[in-house]
Amino acid sequence: MNREQISGIAHADHPIKSPLDDDSVRRLLERGVPRGDERVLDLGCGGGEWLLRALAMRPQLHAEGVDISEDALAQASQAASHLGVQERLVLHHQEATDFVSSQSFDLVLSVGATHAFGGLLPTLAAARKHLAPGGRVLIGEGFWDREPSQEAVEMLGDFTDLATTVDRVVADGWIPVDGHVSTRRELDDYEWACWGSLASWALDHPADPDSAQVLATSNTRRSEWLRVYRDTWGFVSLVLRQTSG
Ligand SMILES: C[S@@+](CC[C@H](N)C(=O)[O-])C[C@H]1O[C@@H](n2cnc3c(N)ncnc32)[C@H](O)[C@@H]1O
Repeated sequence: MNREQISGIAHADHPIKSPLDDDSVRRLLERGVPRGDERVLDLGCGGGEWLLRALAMRPQLHAEGVDISEDALAQASQAASHLGVQERLVLHHQEATDFVSSQSFDLVLSVGATHAFGGLLPTLAAARKHLAPGGRVLIGEGFWDREPSQEAVEMLGDFTDLATTVDRVVADGWIPVDGHVSTRRELDDYEWACWGSLASWALDHPADPDSAQVLATSNTRRSEWLRVYRDTWGFVSLVLRQTSG
């Protein structure tokens, strides 16, 4: 089983592939698309869950998503048809850094995908290029809630603390107009959903040749979460405008 298939099973019960619950996602989207007729771009959209919710919430909205995962985009496309929003959604199978568009966007989203650009500030630089005058960015990024171990840094990447993370964004010319720090419950729910879904799948498919591998992955990842980063890693989502916006 490849990485994408494992990820598909892991997120079966938590289609938002980031540690936010449904209310948090809805509230952030409401702040991101206040008019209702916006053009929205999601860089690293995964299964398109943020876009699908925005499209369902705002009947005049148009959305585009970019991701390198063919499986995730196929899932997004299927879900869009199911919701009847497919005519307002365009999906691009490509590197987010390579995406170009002749039109600009009122909201550029990138949640849990800053690694695609090499970090927070390069992601904001990419978002800025796609942004219409007065547009907003909704970005979700990890931070260290406490001093991390070297192992945690090697596993998750080189983040800063929350205040420094926001300071870096502000110093880059952005003004946070809303934000959400994922709660302990959101962080835990996300991890339990991912590793629990894998474990359940393995138990439900005992004869599948991949069953043992999936169960082992669930055990390893749950243990890494609990032992290596649960006490130090956090996640912040910011709605940003620019000084001139
Ligand atoms: C943690 S998931 C977040 C998905 C979505 N933003 C969400 O919150 O549900 C990260 C996504 O970034 C995508 N990704 C990673 N590297 C990428 C790249 N270079 N270009 C485009 N997408 C990328 C992955 O395929 C994955 O779907």
